[in-house]
Amino acid sequence: MLKRVLVTQPLPGDHLAALADLCNVEVLDGTRPLCEYLSQAELGTCQGLICLLTDAIDHSLLEAMPNLEFVSSVSVGVDHIDVPALTERGIPLGNTPGVLVDTTADTAFALLLAAARRVAEGDRFIRAGNWRLDNRWAPEFFVGRDVSGATLGVIGLGAIGQAMARRAAGFDMQVLGWTPSGREVPGVEAVSLEELLLRSDFVSVHLALTATTRNLIDAGRIATMKPGAVLVNSARGGIVSELALAEALDTGRLFAAGIDVFEREPLPLDSPLLQHPRVVLTPHLGSATRLTREKMVEVAVANSIAAVQSQPMLHCVNPQVYEPSQN
Ligand code: DGY
Repeated sequence: MLKRVLVTQPLPGDHLAALADLCNVEVLDGTRPLCEYLSQAELGTCQGLICLLTDAIDHSLLEAMPNLEFVSSVSVGVDHIDVPALTERGIPLGNTPGVLVDTTADTAFALLLAAARRVAEGDRFIRAGNWRLDNRWAPEFFVGRDVSGATLGVIGLGAIGQAMARRAAGFDMQVLGWTPSGREVPGVEAVSLEELLLRSDFVSVHLALTATTRNLIDAGRIATMKPGAVLVNSARGGIVSELALAEALDTGRLFAAGIDVFEREPLPLDSPLLQHPRVVLTPHLGSATRLTREKMVEVAVANSIAAVQSQPMLHCVNPQVYEPSQN
């Protein structure tokens, strides 16, 4: 009998066609949590799941899917998934690293520039009708922070952090880097996290959200940042304390911030970040170009095809499930 694979949302491109040749593929419309579409019994008959970072793959969902053989997420981050629970059941989890590196680094650098040079604030200023003869160009009008020649601290030196460092080199920035693994990267001065925060005019976060990185940039660490620094986060909400960031902006300790990812998404309307004019906000669009999103889908489908054919996934987050002791 053909396997049944659920896809939690329509996906761009026609990559699913190749999977549909091998199994029954059912695509949901993605507006509600998975368990609201299907009865326990229907979920119970699925062998495969292709999900997005907005789908919580947690204990209760896994309980409802006793026949699940693989999960393939159209994302590089997997903090929405209970990975230990999958591993315990011997279920491989696929993700999509590599294909979104430059697109995400472009977004991070765009946020850095926009926050430093007050781009969004200037846009709002004009649209609000505030740019008048009595309020026009003046020597101190909309002054921002210099990017060229400044120091950038990159937290997390994986592929995206390294791509950010390359962009910074093009702006003659001095680049400091810290990563939990201690990895060293040419052109990046390896320093401790404390030194990075102390010396950097710009700090950009490029870590996965895990138990150890949650709340890493908290009030205590923000207080040690260089006065007037700019913070950029395009990695995951939950790594930077939003409350502490908003307070540091209010007191003027930090100059500005560029934030693409949030503790809660969509960002609640009472978020303190919405109150501050120097925060440039974007709605988790780091990898959002058509080409990159299609490549992410392509990788997620390739992972699924491998799993359906009982082959190891191309990009597997928990490869230990393929070790003989797991079977
Ligand atoms: C990911 O894949 O984890 C990214 O956050 C998507 O933009």
